[in-house]
Amino acid sequence: MKKRILSGMRPTGPLHLGHLVGALENWAKLQEEYDCLFMVADWHALMSEYENTADLSGLIIDNVIDWISAGIDPRKSTLFIQSDVPEHLELYMIFSCLTPLGWLERCPTYKEQLREVKTRNLNTYGFLGYPVLQAADILLYKADKVPVGQDQLPHLELTREIVRRFNSLYRIANGADKKELFPEPEALLTKTSRLLGLDGRKMSKSYNNTIILADSAETIKKKVQNMFTDPKRIKLSDKGHPESCNVFSYYSIFADGIKNEVHDWCVNAKVGCTECKKNFSRELIEKLKPLQEKRKELVKDKIKVKNILAQGAEKAKASASKTIKEAREVMKI
Ligand code: TRP
Repeated sequence: MKKRILSGMRPTGPLHLGHLVGALENWAKLQEEYDCLFMVADWHALMSEYENTADLSGLIIDNVIDWISAGIDPRKSTLFIQSDVPEHLELYMIFSCLTPLGWLERCPTYKEQLREVKTRNLNTYGFLGYPVLQAADILLYKADKVPVGQDQLPHLELTREIVRRFNSLYRIANGADKKELFPEPEALLTKTSRLLGLDGRKMSKSYNNTIILADSAETIKKKVQNMFTDPKRIKLSDKGHPESCNVFSYYSIFADGIKNEVHDWCVNAKVGCTECKKNFSRELIEKLKPLQEKRKELVKDKIKVKNILAQGAEKAKASASKTIKEAREVMKI
């Protein structure tokens, strides 16, 4: 039997290059080896975006269009929307009863968000419980592994603590032995991507420094043309320093095959930065072409995407309802 993977993404905006190299390409590979469930975490999005819900349903479909276009294959993996499977909330409720407040209040991601986020009020009951819902997402399917970035490790650790607490309180009667209901899931740490934003800061929707997967060729050209290059290279005849050039790091991620050639252009002052950036846009546009073509088709056929998600929810539900039944049994409720 294949090991099971669950991962999720919050639908909080259109997907960009960071999502492609930081999550989607990795998911696409994993589906060859594992039984994968990929979930749109819309309840999690709601926990921070509850004041602005009008775009949510459109964003969900738009994000899933990108998933499929990037190679997440509904024939291999189960794609679904969290809120289509109500069992998530049932397990979340159960876990919330046995999760001490201190675990949640101490969670570093929680403390950081409360400190950093100024545009929304996150001082809510729901937001504090964010990791409890995430634990329910994972345990509902008894996932063995959870592909996540570094930033999610505290949530994975909390999930494991919740599992241990649940298992120590309730066990499956199994003759003289008692068996544990939930396995402890492991994080499958995604290599941190070296990809920075177009302006050299951390890539983030709120800095407006991303290339959106749906951006037109024209937009991509403009955005790339505005990127900073090596600040020490002022004249064409100055020799450049690719190691400190953000455009060069984009080459190494998206056009690795010609990296050495571009390195030579730069260190030997053979090609200027403007030309080098023009060339990079051409490479990137070419690289995104298959994804964007698939995307265009799916945008015209949203019904198809909705059907994929409905079927995914069905499949997820079969597994989820079994787990809830077992949880109720061991808890005798
Ligand atoms: N919290 C995750 C993030 O922001 C999204 C998420 C929700 C998730 N439920 C999950 C990730 C379950 C992995 C497993 O990226």
